[in-house]
Amino acid sequence: MHAFSPTPQRDPAAGLPLPTAPVPLGSGARVFIRTATSGDLKATAVLQILELPMGLFPRLGRGFVARWHQTFLDSAHAVALVAVRRDDSDAEEVVGFLVGSTDRRAFRRELLTRHRFGLMARGIAALVVRPRVLAGFLRTRVRPYLCRLGGRDVAGRPGEAAPPGRPGAVGDLTAIAVSGSARRGGAGRRLTEIYLGRCAAVGADWVELVTLADAVGARTFYSSTGWTALDDDCTRDGLNVRRFGRRPGCPEGTR
Ligand SMILES: CC(C)(COP(=O)(O)OP(=O)(O)OC[C@H]1O[C@@H](n2cnc3c(N)ncnc32)[C@H](O)[C@@H]1OP(=O)(O)O)[C@@H](O)C(=O)NCCC(=O)NCCS
Repeated sequence: MHAFSPTPQRDPAAGLPLPTAPVPLGSGARVFIRTATSGDLKATAVLQILELPMGLFPRLGRGFVARWHQTFLDSAHAVALVAVRRDDSDAEEVVGFLVGSTDRRAFRRELLTRHRFGLMARGIAALVVRPRVLAGFLRTRVRPYLCRLGGRDVAGRPGEAAPPGRPGAVGDLTAIAVSGSARRGGAGRRLTEIYLGRCAAVGADWVELVTLADAVGARTFYSSTGWTALDDDCTRDGLNVRRFGRRPGCPEGTR
């Protein structure tokens, strides 16, 4: 928990409607949405690991996840938001976060140019002290990661191309989580609305996300906030996932 700082985060794409001022969720509510800052990264990393533990990155620990979330903070192709609960003295506790790109190919290029060595150094340091995670990494990911980090497919994997019929920029809602004590208060809905507004403002014409196919709460959340289930897939770790998509500018429930 840290004291609220009124200093707005640097807006990487000047002129866009970033929620640098906190947005109350309702009259009298103590939960606000604002743009994430570097001071929030420890808390967003903990939430990611507790609430979204699937995939390799959460298994690499808080330091790595915080470094990864940092890549969303100052990018013109990404959004990082937090939901914070304020107490009477205006001290804040992070109770939710969202990170996502507004143009996944541009963001990916940036990851592989600006952040490649920082992420690699953190990742190697994390793997060295986690032999079981390292064994899994060598078994399932070493080849594709070496190709990507070696820069051979900076242009993007086939699965990351624009979906058929949607030639414009495609955003990826990478992660969203709200802590148990703040759920069903509208924080998740508001986080996604602000993210979608940002996607629409920069001209993205489609947004996608992936969630565990058996996560009933998340599936219901997306279905009831205007997302359409597209298809199911299986991850490198054998998890069944469902892909959702929508146009960013559409009101809920329309495609
Ligand atoms: C999914 C998640 C982010 C939703 O956050 P939230 O703040 O509780 O969501 P909201 O309060 O904005 O819910 C909006 C609507 O979605 C639906 N909804 C949300 N959670 C639901 C649940 N567990 N079961 C059924 N419907 C749900 C409801 O229709 C809700 O509206 P209502 O409360 O007025 O009925 C949160 O449950 C979470 O962090 N889950 C764990 C992490 C996760 O699965 N993330 C998504 C995968 S990337």
